[in-house]
Formats: sequence, C-alpha cells, structure tokens
Amino acid sequence: MTKGCMERVISFLTMTTGITFRRKKEVFVDKVLDVMRQKNLQECEELYFHLLNKERLYYALLEELLVSQSFFYRERVDIDILIEYLRQRGGTRISLLSLPCANGEEPYTIAIELMEQGIENFNILAMDLNPKAIQKAKIGRYQARDVRNVPPSILAKYFYKSGEWYEIKEQVKQKITFVCGNLFEQKDIPFVFDAIFCKNLFIYLEDSYKMEALDIFSRWLRNEGLLFVSFSDYFKAHPCFDRISNEYRSIYKKVGCHEKSRLYFKWRNG
Ligand SMILES: C[S@@+](CC[C@H](N)C(=O)[O-])C[C@H]1O[C@@H](n2cnc3c(N)ncnc32)[C@H](O)[C@@H]1O
Repeated sequence: MTKGCMERVISFLTMTTGITFRRKKEVFVDKVLDVMRQKNLQECEELYFHLLNKERLYYALLEELLVSQSFFYRERVDIDILIEYLRQRGGTRISLLSLPCANGEEPYTIAIELMEQGIENFNILAMDLNPKAIQKAKIGRYQARDVRNVPPSILAKYFYKSGEWYEIKEQVKQKITFVCGNLFEQKDIPFVFDAIFCKNLFIYLEDSYKMEALDIFSRWLRNEGLLFVSFSDYFKAHPCFDRISNEYRSIYKKVGCHEKSRLYFKWRNG
C-alpha cells in the first residue's frame, strides 16, 4: 500500500465529515485494511476511487470508523434546563434537533422526559452519519447496558421487555424522525429549532469544522434558542453563542449576533 494513498483517504474522509482521523492513525489504518479485506480490494487506490463516489463503500468504511457509543440518560441535567426553558417560553409547537443521535438513546431520553412532564406538542429530528446507528435507532431495541441509567418506573412505562432486549414503545417512537445524514451537507436547509443537542461531536472535529458547525447551528436556531454540547466538547468563542451561566458551561444560548457576526464572517471568509 502506498503511504500517499492512505494520506489521501484520511484527507478525503476529514474533508467530508470534519473528523480528525489523524489522532489515532494506527487504529484508522487497521480499520481501513479490514474493510479492504472484507470487500476484496487489493489496492488502496481502488478503495480511494470508490470512496470519491461516496457510495456504499464510503458508508461501509464510516460504519467502522465512527464512534457511535451512547446510553440512555447521559448528562441528564440538560433535560431539566430544556424543560425549564420551554416552560418559560410557553406556547407553540416545539421543534428539537438531536445531532449526532447515534443509536437513538439521546432523542429517546429527551422525548420520554418531556412526555413525563406532560409536554406533548413537540417533535425531534434526529440525525447521524452512521447508517448502522440510524437503523438501530429506528428499530429501538436495546441491551441492559444501554438502559442502565433509566429509572425502573420509566423502563416499565416506556419499554417492552422481550427476553434480553428492551424495546421502545410506539408512543415515543412517533415523536422522532430519524435521518441518516452529514451535518456539513445540510447547511442550506432552512430548519428552525428551539433547541439543538450536539453532544460528543465537537471532540472529534477539526477546529475549522467546529466553527462551521457553530455557523450552521446559528442559522438553524431561533433567537434565544439553546445549544447543548457535552462537558468534553471544546470550541473557541463564537459571536452567536453565549454560555447561559458559569454553572452550566456546556449549554449555550443563541444571542442576537447579527452585527457581531457580520465582522466575524467577513474575517472567516477572508
Ligand atoms: C459519540 S456519538 C454521540 C452520541 C450522542 N450525542 C451522545 O452524546 O451520547 C458521536 C456520533 O457522531 C456521529 N457523527 C460524526 N460526524 C458526523 C457528521 N459530520 N454528521 C453527523 N453525525 C456525525 C457519529 O456517527 C457518531 O454516531
């Protein structure tokens, strides 16, 4: 295998997903070689050629490379803040985004907790780049370790137990639309959300893609809308987002950023 070709594979995948695959390069190369063996590909150039078309092989490789681990009731405190925010805002239909949603654990947790609080007028768009994860999310069947943090009363109310499996009930599934998609390929879609959950994605992104993700979210969030990231997600200041407080350092509010952002975008676009 030519070293130059593997570099091009890394660059292409980073360019299309924003993810820094270079941090664990040995693991990356092993996984790529595995996929090549499975698909009977001898040469890296052949793989690269297929990747460029972004067809089946591109997604097969991403399924191996993406880390889609999650669990129910992860960073639960966020949902209390969301509920308080929605109550204060009052009124109309609520629109939420969970991106990346991995296997559905996060959007299902949000939906269950809103329903528990008697909030029914909401829908959640849940998106992830990993087709296998989205397939699992749509089915909604989980193992005991995935639901380990779910309180027993919630487990009994919103899941069917079937053998070793816990399956989400239809009433929760109906609240969520699962879509396989890449954040960086949706940017021109005119979504308007009240809140966006983007947890545990920024840790994998290159710096310039972090800023691009924030630019996209600033367009998709309504004014004063909330952006939830994870404790481990780090990014530099962005003119459209302020932390809601020093206590909740991973929750941001979209601020009236028009004037500030005019200069910022001018600077970013050269
Ligand atoms: C660790 S999971 C986070 C899941 C959940 N938000 C949580 O915090 O538990 C990271 C997910 O990001 C997804 N991902 C990576 N790059 C993406 C992109 N450009 N667009 C959409 N999803 C992406 C991966 O497929 C993976 O499922």
